[in-house]
Amino acid sequence: MSYSTLLVQMENGICTITINRPDKLNALNKEVFNDLDKAIDEVNNNPAIKTAIITGAGPKAFVAGADISEFGGLSREQAMALAKRGQDVFFKIENSRKPIVAAVNGFALGGGCELAMACHFRLCSENAKFGQPEVNLGLIPGYGGTQRLTQLVGKGKSMELQMTAHLIDANEAQQLGLVNHVTTADTLLQRTKDILTIIQSKAPIAVGKVIECVNVAVVSDSAYTNGKSGYDKEIEAFGDCFVTEDMKEGTSAFLEKRKAEFKGK
Ligand code: COA
Repeated sequence: MSYSTLLVQMENGICTITINRPDKLNALNKEVFNDLDKAIDEVNNNPAIKTAIITGAGPKAFVAGADISEFGGLSREQAMALAKRGQDVFFKIENSRKPIVAAVNGFALGGGCELAMACHFRLCSENAKFGQPEVNLGLIPGYGGTQRLTQLVGKGKSMELQMTAHLIDANEAQQLGLVNHVTTADTLLQRTKDILTIIQSKAPIAVGKVIECVNVAVVSDSAYTNGKSGYDKEIEAFGDCFVTEDMKEGTSAFLEKRKAEFKGK
């Protein structure tokens, strides 16, 4: 599949999706959202894809935000529709049953920080900068940032970052738990791929169930939890794993002291 605003590369089951508008610091316009929407469907529907990375083109930015040039003259209803569209695409990323990891290679501001936070976890390069500077524009985050930043860094820090529009560097992002690992710019993609290669050696259905259950712990929208608590969800998912071939293979391999060969069944 080809996209006008994304570069997509496949290597060893890892699909690297690069947002490719470097002259606009990869700002998220309508086209990027349409392309991302399709690309995430492709990740989940193409059996050759096991895991995915989202990153940005160029040395400077992951994504510098929603495309501010599309904000002019929107009515309240149109602005709400814009936020809903962004939230829906980001929910699709968050709820993907295949792991999607953000490799943040520079500015992750506004919608860029929100995109990174919708991914299952994040790595970043030393030059990365994170922030929700929407109050500078008389706005607030609209693509889930008020919720996900609070989940990831806690209420007090989330409030402060959004109210001050203060940008944080890679080390502070790591201290706050916003990113898991900080790398050099040159090694960011390889380090991300190394982690995904480990994940790809595990039982895919079980990995997908981890995503589902962890999401119930943090997603506040009941439409996505079907009114179930995370603990109920975990009981069901645990049971679901027990009837997979991979579970039989994993437990047998352990007892037989050999490496498990998972098939995703
Ligand atoms: N929307 C649309 N265009 C954007 C953009 C955004 N969020 N962020 C950057 N761009 C564009 C700039 O307009 C500029 O385009 P031009 O060359 O056609 O004038 C180009 O990307 C390069 O950005 P520039 O501002 O010249 O780079 P810089 O290195 O001086 O500054 C930033 C980098 C990230 C600090 C600055 O671009 C910025 O503050 N961006 C907006 C961040 C923001 O508020 N995001 C939240 C949006 S809700």
